[in-house]
Amino acid sequence: MAKRKKRKINVFRLFILGLICVLLIFLLGFGIKKILFSSKETPIIKEEKYDEIVQAGFTIEEAKELASLSNYWPSRLERYAAYTKADTLEQRVMEVNCDMDLEPYAQTTIVEDDTDVTYLVNKFYALPDGYVPDDLVGLDVFACVQGQDYSCQDVDVIQLRKEVYDAYIKWCKAAEKENIEIRAIAGYRSYEYQKGLWDYNAQIHGQEYADSYYARPGQSEHNTGLAVDITFNGYNFNEIENYDGYEWILENAHKYGFILRYPEDKVDVTRYGYESWHFRYVGKDVATKIYENNWTLEEYYGAKEEA
Ligand code: DAL
Ligand code: ZN
Repeated sequence: MAKRKKRKINVFRLFILGLICVLLIFLLGFGIKKILFSSKETPIIKEEKYDEIVQAGFTIEEAKELASLSNYWPSRLERYAAYTKADTLEQRVMEVNCDMDLEPYAQTTIVEDDTDVTYLVNKFYALPDGYVPDDLVGLDVFACVQGQDYSCQDVDVIQLRKEVYDAYIKWCKAAEKENIEIRAIAGYRSYEYQKGLWDYNAQIHGQEYADSYYARPGQSEHNTGLAVDITFNGYNFNEIENYDGYEWILENAHKYGFILRYPEDKVDVTRYGYESWHFRYVGKDVATKIYENNWTLEEYYGAKEEA
């Protein structure tokens, strides 16, 4: 009896051992398969990604670097390859993303949505035909006076989009506490007004000058109602950088959502001459990011992932 019981236990033990072995073999097989698959599949996908970049003319090392950049825009691969002015790949990507590889007005993307106040309007991004913002508000305070102030925009009342108006008033009130009297000399401009300005300057000073300081109609930030040209009460707008208070303007504009749009050291990016007076509203968050990184609006977009 005891012998039979012992044999039964041994058979049972063998059965369990067998079961464990089968299970181990199964798990081992599954694990190996997984390792094989993962070590095969991933590199194939990656190599394909690099292949395309290599085929465009880059070395494999450059391809890896390009692909690792968060602002690498695959749709611009051919343009990255053709543009050889920048010192580093990182710079090349940023500059091409900012359209610095193109001649001004070489191509135009039409901006369809004006609800996001950060949108880009420049020599490559234009407003749709007949665009007029539908929330313009007349500036009753902190504005130049027709006939009194040099270069006051020739309109009954300077207008800005509502959100810009509110931010502008806050900015001016804060400046006032610092004894700085901001005055708007220009805000929203109609297509026709902008056309008149550009035509006049092209006629008097030539097309190159007009293109350096005046946007073509439909491609001016003044057509958006999101830009304001400022001066200090009693001073010429094109000299305000020389007066006390301008430093405060530069250091604080972003807190109210404004950026200096055409800085002196960014002419090659914006493709406009330095304008110490032209401020663009983009909202506090984006303005702060641009200020902290010493970017232009072009670079803010150029640093992002492809849209
Ligand atoms: N002065 C700026 C570039 C404009 O005309 O919009
Ligand atoms: Zn302006």
